[in-house]
Amino acid sequence: MPAEEENMEYRKMNSGYEIPALALGVWQSGDDTEAAVEAALKNGYRHIDTAAAYDNEEEVGKAIAKSGIPREDLFITTKLRNDDIRAGKTREALMESLKKLGLDYVDLYLIHWPVEGSSKAWQEMRKLRDEGYIRSIGVCNFKKHHLEELIEETGEVPAVDQMEFNPQMQDEEVEAFCKDNGIVLEAWSPLGHGSSLSSPVIAEIAQAHKKSPAQVILRWELNKGIVPLPKSVHENRIQENFDVFDFDLTQDEMAKLDALNEGKRTGPDPDNFDF
Ligand code: A2P
Repeated sequence: MPAEEENMEYRKMNSGYEIPALALGVWQSGDDTEAAVEAALKNGYRHIDTAAAYDNEEEVGKAIAKSGIPREDLFITTKLRNDDIRAGKTREALMESLKKLGLDYVDLYLIHWPVEGSSKAWQEMRKLRDEGYIRSIGVCNFKKHHLEELIEETGEVPAVDQMEFNPQMQDEEVEAFCKDNGIVLEAWSPLGHGSSLSSPVIAEIAQAHKKSPAQVILRWELNKGIVPLPKSVHENRIQENFDVFDFDLTQDEMAKLDALNEGKRTGPDPDNFDF
């Protein structure tokens, strides 16, 4: 393992592959995407989470190419957009994403939202995995009932479910289902899109550890076995969000963060969205 990766944690997926326990998220990174990914890779990140719908796969690809990091040391995720699921264009969509990323495989390919046609897309993703274009397959924004339906219809348990998860928005039902079924839970908007950072409870814990509120939240998620995908376009914050492997929280502190749940989403509800 390269020296800069020594401090990183990994999770084992049901596909047999390992996933680095924290990624840079690039949703809404816009024109800053390439620089943000470059900064992340320079500072030790090896896991980047993008999506066709973010419209920045090309920028992610450019930063990967510039980094010179061997492909096998990187973990790259992208996602199948809703319209391509509905249109049954899984294969074409993946090929387009690979071209934009400049890669010949992705480590993780995810169904972006639980739309009509997801089970059919899943069957195609399995074929693409068998052909070597994808290492592991999973879903995003699947609540417990969506997961149950997919497993029932396809007979396969996804490797990953990526959900909004942060102190104010904890879906305990999906968390327990993922744990019981060996699904790695990833957290999008792990910092509550920034809104969890102003909690006085978190500020007090942060002070006790001489860490920032963002670092405390990310450590809490890591301790719960969740893979957080914090987004930032600022190098100092990108560094800060990765500097979370050298401290721990007490059980009492973990419980204090658990108690901040308000079931309050910053993004759309997977049972009620219109895109
Ligand atoms: P920016 O990109 O300007 O740094 P989430 O990943 O939960 O959606 O949160 C992302 C938001 O939080 C973005 O607005 C990002 O802003 C901000 N952010 C990311 N990391 C930090 C940090 N360590 N401290 C403060 N704000 C942060």
